[in-house]
Amino acid sequence: MDGIKIKKGMSDKEIDEFVNYALNEMTLKEKLDQMAGGGFFKFLIADRKFADRAYPTGGVKRLGIPPFLFTDGPRGVIIIGSTCFPVSMARGASWDINLEERVGEVIGKEVRAHGGNLYGGVCINLLRHPAWGRAQETYGEDPFHIGEFGAALVRGVQKHNVMATIKHYIANSIEDSRFKVNVKMDERTLREVYLPQYKKCIEEGCATVMSAYNKFRGQFCGQNPYLLRKILKEEWGFTGFVHSDWMYGVKDTIGGITGGLDVEMPRAKYYGKKLKRAVEKGQVPMGLIDEAVRRIINTVLQYTTKEDPQLYDKSLVACEDHIQLAREVAEKSMVLLKNENELLPLDEEKLETVAVIGPLADMKNTGDHGSSNVRQNNIITPLQGLKNLVGEKVNILYNNGSDITAAENLAISADAVIVVVGYTYKDEGENIPFFKSGGDRVSLHLHKQEIELIKRMSKLIPNCIVTLVGGSAIVMEEWKDDIPAILMAWYSGMEGGNALANIIFGYVNPSGKLPFTIPKDPNHLPFFKRDIEEIEYGYYHGYSLFEKENLIPAFNFGFGLSYTEYEYKNLKVSLENEEIIARADITNIGDVSGEEIVQLYIGFENSLVERPKKLLRGFKRVALNPNETKNVEIKVNVKDLAWYNPESKTWEIKETKYTILMGSSSKKEDLLITEMNL
Ligand code: BGC
Repeated sequence: MDGIKIKKGMSDKEIDEFVNYALNEMTLKEKLDQMAGGGFFKFLIADRKFADRAYPTGGVKRLGIPPFLFTDGPRGVIIIGSTCFPVSMARGASWDINLEERVGEVIGKEVRAHGGNLYGGVCINLLRHPAWGRAQETYGEDPFHIGEFGAALVRGVQKHNVMATIKHYIANSIEDSRFKVNVKMDERTLREVYLPQYKKCIEEGCATVMSAYNKFRGQFCGQNPYLLRKILKEEWGFTGFVHSDWMYGVKDTIGGITGGLDVEMPRAKYYGKKLKRAVEKGQVPMGLIDEAVRRIINTVLQYTTKEDPQLYDKSLVACEDHIQLAREVAEKSMVLLKNENELLPLDEEKLETVAVIGPLADMKNTGDHGSSNVRQNNIITPLQGLKNLVGEKVNILYNNGSDITAAENLAISADAVIVVVGYTYKDEGENIPFFKSGGDRVSLHLHKQEIELIKRMSKLIPNCIVTLVGGSAIVMEEWKDDIPAILMAWYSGMEGGNALANIIFGYVNPSGKLPFTIPKDPNHLPFFKRDIEEIEYGYYHGYSLFEKENLIPAFNFGFGLSYTEYEYKNLKVSLENEEIIARADITNIGDVSGEEIVQLYIGFENSLVERPKKLLRGFKRVALNPNETKNVEIKVNVKDLAWYNPESKTWEIKETKYTILMGSSSKKEDLLITEMNL
């Protein structure tokens, strides 16, 4: 079979034939080499850092099979010099999946420019509780919304022949216990709340899956046959490969391979020699090895033999266009939570002095320092951004707030004060053994010193704006009522400071909306404990829990203000070809242009089976000039109304009256409502 050679533009059939040929040719050792990362520590020592280049695994030189070359994310490509975007949670707040696809494209191009071909940065774990240390790496609390974003990122990245990895499959949402916690949940919760976002990404054609460290129903996710074999590979027909998470997401040789794990990362601890021995002893059939190797080689060839849409030169990395996109994302993701008496936008013509105060005002603070850390030094801080924009006209004062009296003395003469507070990698992030920073948050409140700073500033200067930095909900009850304007700015990437200045001075109209609920009281949230051996995840969390319990949040899921106002009218629904089509007229009734995020929820209050009161099933970002009206249409596939019946193991739609709700947030008062029989 000398004739079979790898070449560009191979058809699926040709790849298949090649894989058959390769499986015949390869020695057991060559096969096992595909199934585990090789030489991780050598790689680290040789390159000093994990972020210098992509990490290679597998490949067979004599047959021309390329390795897969892994690099991380999700706030860009972690390799030195790459574009640093706002974190995923910020992007989720943009509710703009076209934008996310464009982010994906930039990431795909930069992975290629760095010589990689696998991007391990599509994190779609559900935000069950805001204390989760890696909350910033996912998109929010709602599985539908996360799924749309994950799929968009996959689409964008894979356009450039980079394999995307969705992670961490599944229920990885307590950082400090991630290596040990056993997560339990019933079948409906699994199917309706924790799996849909993964399924959507698999349907989008995502090439690879990273298993989670934690246990699911008593078995580690990296060797969990129910998750990996039954659901992912059998039910969903996933044809790519599964690799483990990196600090040993698999705990035994036979359990891993029979459980459905194709690749052990980052090196062979339980695979490699141990797996060889198990095969030789007849404990593991060769068929299982071949199945895994087939998946790996097939996937790698699908991507590496495809014709590229362009060339990927190093000059693409953090080029001007990519930096511009980072700014656009930051501008579209910031959420204006409060704006009494239209304090914002500030008017640079009317102000003489603005004081920028707080520990994060001039800090390069792009988020976690764990595996998602994009090594980019060119970061515009809030202070720098404000100086760049209005520094020539407005006198900008700065104090880091560590000495509150000094900050007061400085701010006393200012016309307005911008306080920048919140978190850094020290407060929240990945839990890496021996790292002192990161892990789950110990508190959902701001630090005491910051609360004191806010209170003192608010007494001194009525025009006080609080800018919050962080990756998920911050409880604000101690100070919220004292402050006229609050802006959630997130970890906003390399251009965050410029974006912030554009919003504060009205060059950009804020349009982001919360991708999670902000509670008034942490006790309103589901049970969460940082150090825990076992936990049950319930059917309700986020807005579905608040609505079930009739709890009033501080800020609702989907909420965000603008410098203009939108009016919703004339909600109409129809059913065409298994699709619910909802339309409403939305008018910009203010006097500046803006972009509104229109949300569609389906209400299940008449359901015969227990369901949440309502669930998000569609959203759209719409640009509107003053006085402009658009008839906005959102379609929902009827099958997306189904619930999972654990008895019959099927998705069911009971004939019932549904409510269709369209509006500007999940809050009842913000939604038009109509009914529909199905
Ligand atoms: C993280 C993953 C990451 C991997 C490789 C792990 O510890 O959980 O998200 O992709 O390291 O850096």
